[in-house]
Amino acid sequence: MSAVFNFTFVPWFRSVAPYIHTHRGKTFVVGLAGEAIAAGKLQHIAQDLALIQSMGVKIVLVHGFRPQVNEQLKAKGHAAKYSHGMRITDEVALDSAQEAAGQLRYEIEAAFSQGLPNTPMAGSTVRVISGNFITARPVGILDGVDFKHSGLVRKVDTAAIGRVLDFGAMVLLSPFGFSPTGEAFNLTMEEVATSVAIAMQADKLIFLTEIPGIRIHHDQPESEDNPIDTELPLAAAEKLLATLPNGERPTDTAFYLQHCVKACKAGVERSHILPFAVDGSLLLEIYVHDGIGTMVIDEKLEELREATEDDVGGILQLIEPFENDGTLVKRSRTEIERDAANYSIIEHDGVIFACAALYPYPEAKTAEMAALTVSPQSQGQGDGEKILKRIEQRARAAGLQSIFVLTTRTMHWFIKRGFVQVDPDWLPEGRKRKYNWDRKSQVLVKKLS
Ligand SMILES: CC(C)(COP(=O)(O)OP(=O)(O)OC[C@H]1O[C@@H](n2cnc3c(N)ncnc32)[C@H](O)[C@@H]1OP(=O)(O)O)[C@@H](O)C(=O)NCCC(=O)NCCS
Repeated sequence: MSAVFNFTFVPWFRSVAPYIHTHRGKTFVVGLAGEAIAAGKLQHIAQDLALIQSMGVKIVLVHGFRPQVNEQLKAKGHAAKYSHGMRITDEVALDSAQEAAGQLRYEIEAAFSQGLPNTPMAGSTVRVISGNFITARPVGILDGVDFKHSGLVRKVDTAAIGRVLDFGAMVLLSPFGFSPTGEAFNLTMEEVATSVAIAMQADKLIFLTEIPGIRIHHDQPESEDNPIDTELPLAAAEKLLATLPNGERPTDTAFYLQHCVKACKAGVERSHILPFAVDGSLLLEIYVHDGIGTMVIDEKLEELREATEDDVGGILQLIEPFENDGTLVKRSRTEIERDAANYSIIEHDGVIFACAALYPYPEAKTAEMAALTVSPQSQGQGDGEKILKRIEQRARAAGLQSIFVLTTRTMHWFIKRGFVQVDPDWLPEGRKRKYNWDRKSQVLVKKLS
């Protein structure tokens, strides 16, 4: 084994450890678009899910089957009919849906049963259990359109799903539900996954989709200046959704976003939209700091917001001890008052316990993050990271390509979060002039992807 391998593998594996610990015992509901299976991605996704489950995550997998049902319909010479973004399930469509679901269940169960030596599934034992966990009701007639056997979720048997998960098995759900009269209804994968996530109060709802996530400027094409927005606070997601037309096709920005927002508002703290086209996207999202798709996150438990003049007293109180011990550069009350709008803060019950400020240098397409502070009694709970993310978002929204920090003691914290050290000469002219050469602060830069 080469020595280089040791040096890369060991730190890499250790860097994943905090995420493994965080997610152990948590419940994730994964909505897998039927298109992913049609595109031949099932084997790798099953391998990744088996790995995630082996690290202690409880998984409910809901598969979709849009292309498979359409294929069955085509074979029967019957056209697929949609209205209001939903399938109209007549007798032939119901038959096709049942056939497609049966076929897919076999394929998924088979994928989780692999275990050949020298494959990622070697030694894994994933028990997959399906059942009649969803009670459905008919969609009925909407604007004169009879949806026939298309249904909506009425109830989720959380006790039964919970027991299966506690038993160590993975729950597999097809988008079907049954009425108390024994009638079967065709549901959508998105609605089933969202309803199950809400009913179980899951820790995450994850959609594996045909889209890469939501871009910073959702209606503009991919570019270096328009990457995927990896973290969308619930309030921003709601605001965006309100400006969008109804999401009727899976490629519409609102299509998955509406479900993520619904789940987040109902207590599922994090909902994700990931591309199935990227191999390992689940692992990249769950076990890597920046993730790969878009995560809608509910931050209402504590308030993360931009500061106003009223917050100046609280900010001063928070940063003063760190100014006194030399960790932070001294700032006067007047200076903070003048720059209040540059600060983002986390407030809980009227007390500010984290802050950071953003000072843009637009001509250099960068900004300084200054005065990053978390109060000593709440350090180590991820608030530093939350504030950093907010500052990154603000910088991105301002069209900047990087942020930088000057630090004398906290270098490693930043390096762990994607910053790299550069020479002070790198600083934008305006900042270089103010650089205190005696303090010998290290300059660290993070490129905003
Ligand atoms: C740096 C700081 C903002 C981090 O805030 P936080 O809320 O504790 O950060 P998080 O919870 O997101 O991260 C905690 C992790 O960072 C580590 N950490 C904290 N301070 C660190 C430092 N100075 N150097 C390296 N790692 C540090 C913790 O050990 C913990 O690691 P773990 O997750 O492996 O246990 C906070 O420690 C602080 O306010 N420090 C004093 C002010 C300061 O140094 N500001 C930066 C000025 S440039």
